[in-house]
Amino acid sequence: MKLGVIGHPISHSKSPVIHQYWMQKHNLTGSYEALDITPENLERDIHALIGKGYKGFNLTLPHKVLALDICNEIDHSAAAIGAVNTIYVRNSKIYGTNTDAFGFIENIKQQEPYFDFKKGKAVVLGAGGAAKAITHGLLNELTPEIYILNRTRSKAEEISAQHKDKVFTLAWTDRSKILKEANLLINTTSLGMKDQPSLDINLFDLSKEALVTDIVYQPLETDLIRAANARGNKTVTGIGMLLHQARPAFEKWFGVLPEIDAELERLVLP
Ligand code: ATR
Repeated sequence: MKLGVIGHPISHSKSPVIHQYWMQKHNLTGSYEALDITPENLERDIHALIGKGYKGFNLTLPHKVLALDICNEIDHSAAAIGAVNTIYVRNSKIYGTNTDAFGFIENIKQQEPYFDFKKGKAVVLGAGGAAKAITHGLLNELTPEIYILNRTRSKAEEISAQHKDKVFTLAWTDRSKILKEANLLINTTSLGMKDQPSLDINLFDLSKEALVTDIVYQPLETDLIRAANARGNKTVTGIGMLLHQARPAFEKWFGVLPEIDAELERLVLP
């Protein structure tokens, strides 16, 4: 089974470590490589790799949206999120799916099994690809209302336009003011990541019952996670989303839904 993750750049990707670990654990033979391919060459190179026997890929930045058009068929999650992060080849046909929403939701379910998505509103900071997937996941879990705040508000409006009765936008500058009734606060922006500015937000109005999560995992404990922990909120860090999104991809290729264990966490932790 020849597999790989395609991105540009790609050297930072943890996916080879994750999938190689599971292949070894389950005694499955195969290879999983990091493949640096530019957007201009994506379609041609995917076809060439399939010609050489590749059976599947993960897609990362900047390819997730482009990959939609390369697939012969996409499933409901890829269509709803508007992006493909996993490709699998069957009978020479290219299938696309998106496991990012699963990854986000499963991570919370594993870390905080008693968290109730239905209990109240979710506040999503950011409106990139990750925010789209997370919004899709939250809607599946019957979160009653989702508020998206993004520096470029029009991008948040594009997401809310698809779910007018449940997804709303607010001004980015109001991020500290709208936390009062939030059940869940999620940072999907790159703020707080190593070498990026910190996320400037005041958690004063946030209920102590609310769950705070960050998809940034480098560092694992972002300023947001630290501030939330310090005032007694429960928190979920971002590394688990990365690990959980990989599970259904592996299942598509090998027919086994792998588990996350301490050894794998140790291997991928920054
Ligand atoms: P991904 O696909 O991982 O979500 P992305 O599409 O590049 O990545 O999205 C990055 C998010 O971080 C965006 O919501 C971006 O806001 P804009 O849409 O306005 O660009 C947000 N972001 C990045 N730098 C930011 C900053 N300095 N202040 C506020 N938001 C920022």
